[in-house]
Amino acid sequence: MVTYDPYNLFRFKVSSLKNVKIGFRTAQVGEWGEVSLAVADELESLIRERAGRGESAVLGLATGSTPLELYRELIRRHREEGLSFANVTSFNLDEYEGLGRDHERSYWCEMWQNLFDHVDIDPTRVHVPPSRFEDAEAAALEYEAKIADAGGIDWQLLGIGRAGHIGFNEAGSGRETRTRRIALAEETIVDAAPGFKGREHVPTHAVTMGVGTILESRRIVLMAQGEGKREIVHQAMSQVPSERVPASFLQLHENVGWFLAKDTAGF
Ligand code: PGA
Repeated sequence: MVTYDPYNLFRFKVSSLKNVKIGFRTAQVGEWGEVSLAVADELESLIRERAGRGESAVLGLATGSTPLELYRELIRRHREEGLSFANVTSFNLDEYEGLGRDHERSYWCEMWQNLFDHVDIDPTRVHVPPSRFEDAEAAALEYEAKIADAGGIDWQLLGIGRAGHIGFNEAGSGRETRTRRIALAEETIVDAAPGFKGREHVPTHAVTMGVGTILESRRIVLMAQGEGKREIVHQAMSQVPSERVPASFLQLHENVGWFLAKDTAGF
């Protein structure tokens, strides 16, 4: 039986990927399809193993283009192979400020369209940071409290922004930061502009889990693809951790999987 050991995870599951040393860390590298399958294998093992014991799996999930193939594969496994999400509790990393849940660019909407609508997750166990609130600090504290009430995050998925953000922890976000309201960086707004049909429509602020919140997850999986992410991923894996590249703080965590497409790894 596959057992879930957060400190020694599923190494045999990523055998189709190559171990590549980058800076101080080892990445799992392959064609993007293989990378997404390997991450799906890891996640499926966790969900099934917990279900077998009548326990829940608490996932931290991400939006953006990076996890789309992974989510498609999870939907396929749900439909064709009986992978159930009935025991899953989810917490998304971040949300734009001010967009209602019915706004097609809200991360709430994106998650339902790309994953939740197609699997058997209990809607009451889906959590996305608040986008509308009177008191940002109180709303952020409430989100942190929900994560704590669920027992903390077992498995956190991350993409990485061109300037090194994880969630919306932009450059300048420290190691100890918690869930909070944050101003979006220029690169983030420019990258989001096409989806909003112009940068003037992109929200200027968001609510994001903090770097400290993310680092409390028992397992973290960062995925990245494309040449455009190569430089920042190399910085995150090889530079001394600092606020200039918030993803570099992941080096301080003992159980991070760096899952990279070949072009991101650089060969
Ligand atoms: P992407 O975004 O998956 O759309 O590249 C990642 C991020 O900004 O964290």
